[in-house]
Amino acid sequence: MTSILQTPAHPVSDALLHRAKQVIPNGMYGHQIATGLWPGAPQFVSRTSGSRIWDADGHEYIDLLCSWGPIIHGYQHPLIEEAVNRQRLISDTANGPSEHMVTLAEKLVDVVEHADWAMFAKNGSDVTTLCLTIARAHTGKATILVEEGTYHGALPWCNPDKTGVLPSDRAGLAYYTYNDLASVEKLIIEHEGDLAGIIVAPFRHDPAGSDLELVDPEFAQGLRRICDENGAVLILDEVRTGLRMSFGGSWEQYGVRPDLSSWSKAIGNGYPIAAVMGAEALREAAGSFFVTGTFWFSAVPMVAALTSLALLDECDGVAHMYARGQQLVSGLAAQAASHALPITITGPAPMPYMSFAGETDHQFTLAWTAECAARGVFIHPKHNWFMSTALTEADVDTVLSVTDEAFGEVAKRFF
Ligand SMILES: Cc1ncc(COP(=O)(O)O)c(C=O)c1O
Repeated sequence: MTSILQTPAHPVSDALLHRAKQVIPNGMYGHQIATGLWPGAPQFVSRTSGSRIWDADGHEYIDLLCSWGPIIHGYQHPLIEEAVNRQRLISDTANGPSEHMVTLAEKLVDVVEHADWAMFAKNGSDVTTLCLTIARAHTGKATILVEEGTYHGALPWCNPDKTGVLPSDRAGLAYYTYNDLASVEKLIIEHEGDLAGIIVAPFRHDPAGSDLELVDPEFAQGLRRICDENGAVLILDEVRTGLRMSFGGSWEQYGVRPDLSSWSKAIGNGYPIAAVMGAEALREAAGSFFVTGTFWFSAVPMVAALTSLALLDECDGVAHMYARGQQLVSGLAAQAASHALPITITGPAPMPYMSFAGETDHQFTLAWTAECAARGVFIHPKHNWFMSTALTEADVDTVLSVTDEAFGEVAKRFF
């Protein structure tokens, strides 16, 4: 069998992993575990700056993963760091929130078209979960329709891994198929009289490692109609897409506004913050029960978010990310054609993904990303990539010179 290139040795990362295994189960867990990358990928990162990261052994990469989404202006953007450092010296976690919480809610209500109010938390799963609770509080009903196999977080109700999960943790959930309105309509009949809401991602990005699928506008519009006809709440999970796929809401382009939406990753350029955004009709329900978290109200991430949002607005960041994404995917398509390689590129331009037709276990994608990594470009083999406003046209040109060589290696060894 043709072997996949082993990327440069990572003795420092390997030694750290050895230490980690003594004190952390398996040394690492969750989505950042390096075994999900190409063979021999380094586990640890030592430095980040702009569009670049350095692994623990000092190898530099142009980064197309952006920390799985949060980094929208590049790492350590100077204006964001300056604002954060100023705020850190004044106050961060305190007995009460700062004025920045109010200003940030005002800003997000201004930016997110469907929203009249905001509530803040830390992680994506805080806010997807909160959306379900608000929908149930609003309707007094239990059932939420969820896409089969989608990712809304790793809590018991939504973790794709069912280890330790009880059927009761998933009570009140029923599962539909993305872009299949008939599968939703069937559930509506089965759960008639008990429907609280439908949660949906702006495009299909799961299960991990599969090609991405944009929403059929008729599906999006159909979900809106079904919710209206049944008094149910439409929840759009913008945790991954928010502020990258669009500034004001990913389904605005289809004329579809949700009642609730969940946001996180890109709000604070890496600082931990999440938000539920809601329409007026949901305000009372959102304020009708106790919900909180120790770190939900800290000022520093809110200042990071305010600075990041202002930057995104000023530099027309979403258009920049579309342009860089388009430059990248057009280049990849032309290169693959020139090497006679059968690739598939899916997803919106700021968050694309590429796979090879005919591979059974990502073997060609793994080999290709290993070749890219060996030449200083960090591309995830099984997860959508992320553009940032820090990625320049010249950076993408450099990436493309690397991907062309990597295609050449894959063509030589596998085709
Ligand atoms: C669409 C979506 N929803 C929710 C989550 C969960 O976010 P978190 O990991 O911050 O809890 C993610 C994380 O990747 C996501 O992509």
